[in-house]
Amino acid sequence: MQTQLFLVKCVVLASCLIHPRVCSPTCNFPAIFNFGDSNSDTGGLSAAFGQAPYPNGQTFFHSPSGRFSDGRLIIDFIAEELGLPHLNAFLDSIGSNFSHGANFATAGSTIRPPNTTISQSGVSPISLDVQLVQFSDFLTRSQLIRNQGGVFEHLLPRKEYFSQALYTFDIGQNDLTTGLKLNMTVDQIKVYIPDVLNKFSNTIRSVYKKGGRRFWIHNTAPLGCLPYVLDRWPVPDSQIDNHGCAIPRNEIARYYNSELKRRVIGLRKELVKATFTYVDIYSIKLTLITQAKKLGFKDPLVACCGHGGKYNFNKLIKCGAKVMVKGKEIVLAKSCNDVSFRVNWDGVHFTETANRWIFQQINGGAFSDPPFPLKYACTKG
Ligand SMILES: *[C@@H]1O[C@H](CO)[C@@H](O)[C@H](O)[C@H]1NC(C)=O
Ligand SMILES: *[C@@H]1O[C@H](CO)[C@@H](O)[C@H](O)[C@H]1NC(C)=O
Ligand SMILES: *[C@@H]1O[C@H](CO)[C@@H](O)[C@H](O)[C@H]1NC(C)=O
Repeated sequence: MQTQLFLVKCVVLASCLIHPRVCSPTCNFPAIFNFGDSNSDTGGLSAAFGQAPYPNGQTFFHSPSGRFSDGRLIIDFIAEELGLPHLNAFLDSIGSNFSHGANFATAGSTIRPPNTTISQSGVSPISLDVQLVQFSDFLTRSQLIRNQGGVFEHLLPRKEYFSQALYTFDIGQNDLTTGLKLNMTVDQIKVYIPDVLNKFSNTIRSVYKKGGRRFWIHNTAPLGCLPYVLDRWPVPDSQIDNHGCAIPRNEIARYYNSELKRRVIGLRKELVKATFTYVDIYSIKLTLITQAKKLGFKDPLVACCGHGGKYNFNKLIKCGAKVMVKGKEIVLAKSCNDVSFRVNWDGVHFTETANRWIFQQINGGAFSDPPFPLKYACTKG
């Protein structure tokens, strides 16, 4: 017993020397404010443009829940880990409670304002600049209303939460596919990425000006391993790697991520009162997809919920799509039977099981810069 205790103390002391953070108290984030696209949308697009249809939500919520997945998203697991309720969408006026944060993300959002409408291209009009306007409005008006007292004190965040909150960002994927939709080459897409990242950085600066201090930034997924990208923008076989992923598409994502990381390092120097955690979602998702079998998952390049083709993805018949047959509604794009073993949900998004696995990697800090666990993302690296 004595030796064991001594050993434990040694290990704790050693990790304190290596990572002083581990010895400091955890951050106690009282709220989360999230900005993003469908990877973290908990009901924004659904509130404005109609619910993501069943079987979305089947596993955890047992009905559509505004999420593009069978269950919870990474942002839900982050909230749970921090002891906070799941985030309501800012746009959702039904039953929302914003006392511990708000979600400004909508599916299909881009960083740059889109030049096409949602009916033309599926791109959400709630781009990052609009999300920032909504956040600013929320910041001001939530305090005006909260000061009226009564129930509003229990629906809106305290003033001090805005400086103590975790500000999470997961956006950029749709800015990259915008170029694919325009048939651009890798080089043509690389040319506009600095403009995308200028707009991203300016949003961070604006949130900082309004008092945000703790930033948590996800990089973008390996696009070339996602069924919708493989189906909609095919590449010749010579450009497919050993795992079935499209090499030039992943190159775009990696370029975007390396530039994003440079920006984050710059912002860290510029906005000295803030802390920034850059999370390498790309590597985590790539590991999950390329090591799926070893990790207990199946068919990482095939959508669970879809309708036919090599990747079980059809952009005209998406997950939950229905047809009328002899006056009866039939769901054409249904869930697979083994969703809890699958990586990909609908060709674009991940299953709840995959999201939980991804979250577990994030939570430990091994894929973060600086490499600290989620609960310590408030002190300097
Ligand atoms: C939209 O069009 C303007 C003017 O041509 C251009 O500057 C901008 O980059 C375009 N935005 C996107 C997202 O393509
Ligand atoms: C809103 O959620 C918080 C945290 O879960 C809870 O304490 C509060 O009572 C809720 N507000 C209302 C009006 O139910
Ligand atoms: C992209 O290329 C495809 C196939 O050649 C073509 O059908 C489509 O119209 C092109 N799109 C644009 C925006 O140029």
